[in-house]
Amino acid sequence: MPPLTVKTLLAGGSELKDITVKGWIRTRRDSKSCSFAELNDGSARENLQLIFSAENGDFSALLPGLLTGAAVAVTGDLVAAPEGARQKLELRVKKAELYGECDPDKYPIQKKKTSDEFLRTVAHLRPRTNKYAAMLRIRSELSFAIHNYFRNNGFFYVHTPIITGSDCEGAGQMFSVSSLDLSNSAALPKTDNNAIDFSKDFFGKKTYLTVSGQLEGETLALALGKIYTFGPTFRAENSNTYRHCAEFWMIEPEMAFYELDDDMALAEDFVKSITRHTLEHCAEDIELFARFVDPALMETLRNVADSAYERLAYGDAVKILEPNNSKFEVKVSWGVDLASEHERFLTENYFKKPVILYNKPKDAAAFYMKLNDDGRTVRGMDLLVQRIGELIGGSERENRLDVLEKKMADFKINPESYWWYLDLRRFGSVPHSGFGLGFERMMMLVTGISNIRDVTAYPRVPGWAEF
Ligand code: 4AD
Ligand code: MG
Repeated sequence: MPPLTVKTLLAGGSELKDITVKGWIRTRRDSKSCSFAELNDGSARENLQLIFSAENGDFSALLPGLLTGAAVAVTGDLVAAPEGARQKLELRVKKAELYGECDPDKYPIQKKKTSDEFLRTVAHLRPRTNKYAAMLRIRSELSFAIHNYFRNNGFFYVHTPIITGSDCEGAGQMFSVSSLDLSNSAALPKTDNNAIDFSKDFFGKKTYLTVSGQLEGETLALALGKIYTFGPTFRAENSNTYRHCAEFWMIEPEMAFYELDDDMALAEDFVKSITRHTLEHCAEDIELFARFVDPALMETLRNVADSAYERLAYGDAVKILEPNNSKFEVKVSWGVDLASEHERFLTENYFKKPVILYNKPKDAAAFYMKLNDDGRTVRGMDLLVQRIGELIGGSERENRLDVLEKKMADFKINPESYWWYLDLRRFGSVPHSGFGLGFERMMMLVTGISNIRDVTAYPRVPGWAEF
């Protein structure tokens, strides 16, 4: 029979006879008359205190193996704990079985060795620590919060391809997908000028892992009205920063008939709503991060959940940043693509709340963003938050065929590969908008964790694809 979870037992709050729980030992200590162990089964942050006393059974054979990390099944009575104990209930063990021993000299998860850097090297075991288990539980709840938000607001959940022939962001940071054997160059099919002939590859052309589901998402929004994707995306950016991963999850809503203002309003409401949901449903785990990781976490999260986000045109941002150029590595002037130092200055130091930056210069933006009448800015927006900077990037899309074709030519994008994308502007084109939320960045926001490598179970970053 599947065991009861520590979470349900402690939440139930009542004494129970002859119940079984299964999990891993966190600590054990012995007194003269009995032994105490803390059992964690991952269901919640809380441990269940186990009491092994000679009155209730003979545990002499078991106890030497009951060490940190060992897996056990225990059966006994759940009874009220003495006044002042951490949990209201504790388990008086009557029967116990050791499933898996754990040699304390070899087990890497030790109280002394808890640096984030070290734990990344044992990512297969770090979920057994309070911090990473809490992170993963929040990750799960946040995913459901996101699906709920869109479901409650009339969006359809769609699935866009992971293997694609198009580069949505046009930044050339794509991982190739091929079934050719690259290790055997003599056997590779070649063109007349000795390049690899990808027409002989699996898909008959060069293909990549997607950097964004947006372009395909647009085709679905122009049929279903409001859609969103929630899937993995991949970027071969060789940047080792606290907020970039080569593999990350993105949520991309796309809405027909939405203009930039509607897009920004949706982004703000969405971020507020999922932040509130997490505060409400993950209170115990968030409390751990507020206590041990980021002392300002609760204040930041209330600020994100409750303040009216600043709407700031790019030109006005430049006016704020320029006089502060002495503080920045990259000096700001009109046309410069803002970096994380500028984004954080605006949200952390200047406005002290989230900022939605819009109307970017067209040369610092992707090809698909709608050109403004001034001819030099586009209807793009970035939602910036404290500690992270850019959390969301989005835009109203260029829906005029002639303007889009000209933009693609400027960006040296081959229109033939995007014939289907251009068709959207030929057949029943409408104003439409969308955005992408980086899921790991949202996780950084709600947990206070400062490195993206620690908000996903198995980070993929330059030089690291272990596990
Ligand atoms: O701003 P980005 O590049 O926008 C797009 O991809 C659009 N196609 C989205 C859309 O309009 N549908 O990426 C969107 C978000 C960023 O704001 C950031 O949160 C996250 O994705 N992101 C990354 N997260 C982790 N690692 C990376 N390398 C990331 N690159 C972008
Ligand atoms: Mg962006």
